Amino acid sequence: MKVLANDGVSQSGINALEAAGYEVITTTVAQEQLQNYINDNDISVLLVRSATTVRQDLIDNCPSLKIIGRGGVGMDNIDVAYARSKGLHVINTPAASSHSVAELVFGHFYGLARFLHNANRDMPLEGDSNFKKLKKAYAKGTELKGKTLGVIGFGRIGQATAKIGLGAGMKVIAFDPFIEKANLELEFFDGQKVNFDIATISKEDVLKQADFLTLHVPAQKDYVIDEKEFNQMKDGVIMANAARGGVINEIALVKALEKGKVARAALDVFEKEPQPEIQLLMNSALSLTPHTGAATNEAQDRIGVELADQIISILG
Ligand SMILES: NC(=O)c1ccc[n+]([C@@H]2O[C@H](COP(=O)([O-])OP(=O)(O)OC[C@H]3O[C@@H](n4cnc5c(N)ncnc54)[C@H](O)[C@@H]3O)[C@@H](O)[C@H]2O)c1
Repeated sequence: MKVLANDGVSQSGINALEAAGYEVITTTVAQEQLQNYINDNDISVLLVRSATTVRQDLIDNCPSLKIIGRGGVGMDNIDVAYARSKGLHVINTPAASSHSVAELVFGHFYGLARFLHNANRDMPLEGDSNFKKLKKAYAKGTELKGKTLGVIGFGRIGQATAKIGLGAGMKVIAFDPFIEKANLELEFFDGQKVNFDIATISKEDVLKQADFLTLHVPAQKDYVIDEKEFNQMKDGVIMANAARGGVINEIALVKALEKGKVARAALDVFEKEPQPEIQLLMNSALSLTPHTGAATNEAQDRIGVELADQIISILG
């Protein structure tokens, strides 16, 4: 049977599928040629990430397809309910990248706490002529240890982020309307384990108490953080959005940064991808990444292997 990994798949995933007798094709077929390619090559499994879209017409016109697989979490690019109504299996890998996203958030937090995002912009330009000025400008850094980490959305990534916070010596508080409490197990290199029970509290309390605030909610109709929520935050909070563009009102964020309500912030996701607002890109209070939360070798390996395991267990 043939698997078309149209947006790529890790070598470990290819190895697992080939060992089970599948042929894996990693050509990237253009969206408008996909239907013909799938039919001409009798493709059984179509694997995508976020680039390729799988809509009703493709599902209707490709009878050889048995499985649509999304390497990652969000399935906005696939007509999932329709595919399932036509008897196709739709699979994804929701847990594979949680730790990678959590580490990216902490990369941003440690950077923001010590102005690395600015120092890295300024040192190439002024590091030789204005060293002392820059040293003074970035003198008022803060530590994360002992601070309060607020997590909004306490699912897979929220909990992975909380674990890193606990490991960093932070107090962790969380809000999630659907989760009352979670048991977090921190594992150490020598096999020791430490357990923490964290009961969620109200959104307002998290916003009021957090020194560092991170969002891990799914995309939804309304903003989760809008002007009202910014006003409830502690003055000088450092925050991060590595969830989805549209979860934070970006205009309200820029205002909150201007007022100093939010001291600095990190964005990995944007309302307008792939062309974020220039006001965000040029804002020196922001630490920015181009939606790379899940982009680690380890996460991509886990995604490939998890997809392969699921395909093999469905099709044999
Ligand atoms: N930056 C990246 O590259 C990247 C990678 C993977 C996932 N993500 C995104 O991260 C987000 C979280 O993913 P996950 O795997 O942790 O999902 P998850 O489903 O495990 O957890 C999401 C949690 O948010 C809670 N929630 C829903 N609405 C809420 C609200 N209004 N306020 C507070 N909590 C709310 C849910 O109850 C759930 O527990 C998703 O938006 C996902 O698309 C981003």
